[in-house]
Amino acid sequence: MSTTISVRPLTKFDETQGYRGSMVNFGAEVIGADLDNLSAQDFAVIERALEDHQVLVIRGQQHMAPASQVKFALAFDPSAECTIHHHGDVSKNALNKSHLLGGNTPVPGLPQLHVIGNGTIHDHYGIESFKLKHPSHADFHATAPPLGNTRYYRWHIDAALYDKFPPRVTTFRTVQPVNNPAKPPIQTLSYDDGSGDEIAMPVGATAYVSGYTAFELLPVELKEWALRTKVLYPPHPYAWAGKCKAESTGCTLVSEGKEVPLDELPPWEEERLTVLPLVWRNPLTCRPSLQLHGIVASAFVTKNPDGSETTMDDLPRVRERILELMRPAVGPEYVLAVKGEAGDLLVWDNWTLWHSVMSNLDGDDPGDLRIMHQCNLAASYPPEAWSPSS
Ligand SMILES: [Fe+2]
Repeated sequence: MSTTISVRPLTKFDETQGYRGSMVNFGAEVIGADLDNLSAQDFAVIERALEDHQVLVIRGQQHMAPASQVKFALAFDPSAECTIHHHGDVSKNALNKSHLLGGNTPVPGLPQLHVIGNGTIHDHYGIESFKLKHPSHADFHATAPPLGNTRYYRWHIDAALYDKFPPRVTTFRTVQPVNNPAKPPIQTLSYDDGSGDEIAMPVGATAYVSGYTAFELLPVELKEWALRTKVLYPPHPYAWAGKCKAESTGCTLVSEGKEVPLDELPPWEEERLTVLPLVWRNPLTCRPSLQLHGIVASAFVTKNPDGSETTMDDLPRVRERILELMRPAVGPEYVLAVKGEAGDLLVWDNWTLWHSVMSNLDGDDPGDLRIMHQCNLAASYPPEAWSPSS
């Protein structure tokens, strides 16, 4: 049997649709796939393409059934827990109390599939009415960007980071992209960290960088340290960090002592805490990928040559180290940004990429309406640490 699917690298964009830094070596578009009726052979083509390109824009899924998106996400990890959101029961775990997340709602009958975006939706796949909330820089960042500019809100991997393993992939279908005729289609994204870095970004795009590249960019000593290091995340990390503000590049938080004390968090158990290697071995390519959620990481534990361990848990110091690890990889030359068109389903390897939401959107302006369907399932197995012999 032959396949009708074709895959081609995303090499250039109309500037209102995407941005590709000069050093980007990932990203592809997929034409001719029917995700409602995907054969095993076609899935194998997509899985291989994802291994090669890390993020795929699968065109032409305007009429895809919500349940097909869940089935598609499950195909990448057939043993994944597939009946619940990758954060677990979001009504119980305080997720929605944090401004770092929240403002989303599940499709009725599909708790794994969340509608996210901006503005009020009506009569949407059984949802009578709901106001989707896009983050705002005033709430999110410690300092405001120059007027009209946007920033990365948070460079992250999708993960609950408590009681659940990070999903293998994220699927993200554009139901309605932002196309406000009354506003410019591009906003200036500024780094505001003294570098002078800026990018002209399409409004409503999602930004990606590669964890492979992030590892490769580290100086030799930091690489060697990273390979011996684990990252500790606090209990209910988004509630823990829910009152904090981000620094200007979206890699981590500013340290103002606003983290919620552990005894004031929702109930938690030691054995459900998340400890992950800093450098993951990709199960398919075996390549090392630096994977870190710098917004909510709280400590590093490093194994010393004599077998002892050193813990770094002073938050200002931890966050300084997070910037050393992450900032080089999020420079303009390494960023790919994609604004999906209606019917584009993006799927990305959540174990080798980091991503960030961007843009200033007005929740009360109907022209800024943005509707996306997101599904990712907590993985059935944890990532392994990469080592030179692995
Ligand atoms: Fe995300």
